[in-house]
Amino acid sequence: MGTITFRYSEAVPLESHRVRIVQKLELLPVEQRLAKLKEAKNNLYLLHNRDIFLDMLTDSGVNAMSDNQLAATINADDAYAGSETFYILEKKVQSLFGMEHFLPAHQGRACEKLLTDMLVKPGDLVPMNYHFTTTKAHITRCGGEVLELIKPAGLNPVSHDPFKGDIDLDALKDVLDRERQRIPFVRIEAGTNLIGGQPVSLDNMRQTAKLCKAAGVPLMMDASLLQDNLHFLKTRDEHCKNLSIKEITKEVSSLFDIIYFSARKLGFATGGGIALRDAKHLNRLKELVVRDEGFLTYGGMSTKEMAAIAIGLDETMEESVISHGPQFIEFFVNELDRLGIPVVTPPGGLGCHLDASRFVPHIPQSAYPAASLSAALYIAGGIRGMERGTLSEDRNPDGSEHFASMELLRLALPRRVFTLSQIKYAIDRIHWLWDNRQLIEGLTFTTEPEILRFFVGELAPLSDWQEKLAKAFRRDFADSL
Ligand code: F0G
Repeated sequence: MGTITFRYSEAVPLESHRVRIVQKLELLPVEQRLAKLKEAKNNLYLLHNRDIFLDMLTDSGVNAMSDNQLAATINADDAYAGSETFYILEKKVQSLFGMEHFLPAHQGRACEKLLTDMLVKPGDLVPMNYHFTTTKAHITRCGGEVLELIKPAGLNPVSHDPFKGDIDLDALKDVLDRERQRIPFVRIEAGTNLIGGQPVSLDNMRQTAKLCKAAGVPLMMDASLLQDNLHFLKTRDEHCKNLSIKEITKEVSSLFDIIYFSARKLGFATGGGIALRDAKHLNRLKELVVRDEGFLTYGGMSTKEMAAIAIGLDETMEESVISHGPQFIEFFVNELDRLGIPVVTPPGGLGCHLDASRFVPHIPQSAYPAASLSAALYIAGGIRGMERGTLSEDRNPDGSEHFASMELLRLALPRRVFTLSQIKYAIDRIHWLWDNRQLIEGLTFTTEPEILRFFVGELAPLSDWQEKLAKAFRRDFADSL
C-alpha cells in the first residue's frame, strides 16, 4: 500500500486493518486500583488482567492476530512428529533468512537456553550491543559474562541519532583483538529492547560482520524485534530506502551465522526458533531441542502456533503492517515530548519509554524510580507499563545493587491492539501524573528473588505516598474513573 496523507485534518497515524474481534475493558475506580496494586505487592506482573484498563506491559504474545493467521491455525496439521505445518514454517524461515537449517523452540528464552548451553562455558565473554534480561541470565548461568558495547548515543535518552542500537565498532575490534579465545560469539540485538526499542543500522551490522569474520567468531542476531528494526531501516537508512522489506531482511540476515527469535514478537504469534547458516552445531543443537523442548518438528510449540507464525512472518514483510507500531509510538512519544514530559527520543519500536530519571529525579536508584513510576501510573490510569531499570537488574555477586544505565518505564504497544483514542487517554493520565510527580516516592523489596527478581519479587512503598496520590486523583477528577 502507498502513502496516505490527510488534506484537512490533523495528520495522525492511520490503521491499515479493521477490528473484527474485541475484548471488553473495565476501568476500576482509583480507590480499587490502589487496593489491587497493594494486593499485587506493587509488582504489576502480579496484577490480574481483568483489573487493568490498558495493558502496555509488553508486546510479547499479545499482538493481535490477523484473519489469515487465525484461519491457518484451524488448518494446522497436528502430529507429534512430521507435522506438515512445521515444514511450512521451516521453509518460510529458511527462505526469509536465507539460512539452511531451522530448529523450533517454545519461546525466545528457550532459544537462548539452547544456544548458551551449547556455546558458553565458564570464563567466556559475550560482546553485544546491549543485553536483554533473559539473555544475560542464561549467559551468566553458564558461567559467561556479558560485555555491552553500545555506542555512547545509545544510552543518551535525548538524542536525534536514528540508530542508537549500533555497537561501538572500535570497542568491538579491541575486544576481539585482546580476548578472541574467550569469545564464543558476538550478539547483535535488533530493535534493542532495553534502551527503548532502538534500531541498528545496516552499515553497523556489516562492519560488525566484517570484524567477526576476520576474528573467526560467529555472529548471532536476536531477531525478536527485527520487524521494528526493518521498518526503521526502510525509513531511516539511506542504504535501504529503495529496497523492499524482504530485500532488507535478506541483506541483514546474510551477515549473520545464527539468528534466533521470540515469535511472541516476530511473527505476531507465540513460539520461537533458531536458524543456522551451516551444519556445524546442528547435531548438538538437535539433541538439546529434543531433550529440553520437544521433538524437532514442534519444539514445544503447538502446531496452531507454528501455523500462525508462518503467516505472521509473511505479514512482517509488508511495510504497511510493520509500520503500524512505530507510527503509533511516534505519535505517543512526540505528544509527550511536546508537553515537556521526559521520554526517550527518537521514538523507537516496541513502545513509548518514559525516562524516570528525569520524571522523578527525587527518587534515588536504590528506591527504584522506574518501578515507582509504573506503580503510580497504574493508580493514575489503570495503565500497566513495565519497569526497565534497576529493578530489572539482578544484584551483583557481592549483594550490592547493580544500578541500571537507564531508568525507563516502557509503555509497550502490542501490534494492532490499541486505538489512537486509547493512546490519547494514556497521554492525558501521564500528563496528570507529571503535574503531580512530587507526590511519587520510592519502593523497597519485601521479598526479593535472586534471579530475574522483577518477575515475581514483592515490594512496598516507602511511605503512604500512594494513598496521597489516589486522593489527589479523586480531588482532581471528582467522580470520573
Ligand atoms: N530477546 C529479546 C530482545 C526480547 O525482547 C525477549 C522478550 C526475549 C529475547 C525472550 O523471549 O519472552 O519469548 O522468552 N521480551 C519480552 C518483553 C519478555 O516484554 O520485552 P521470550
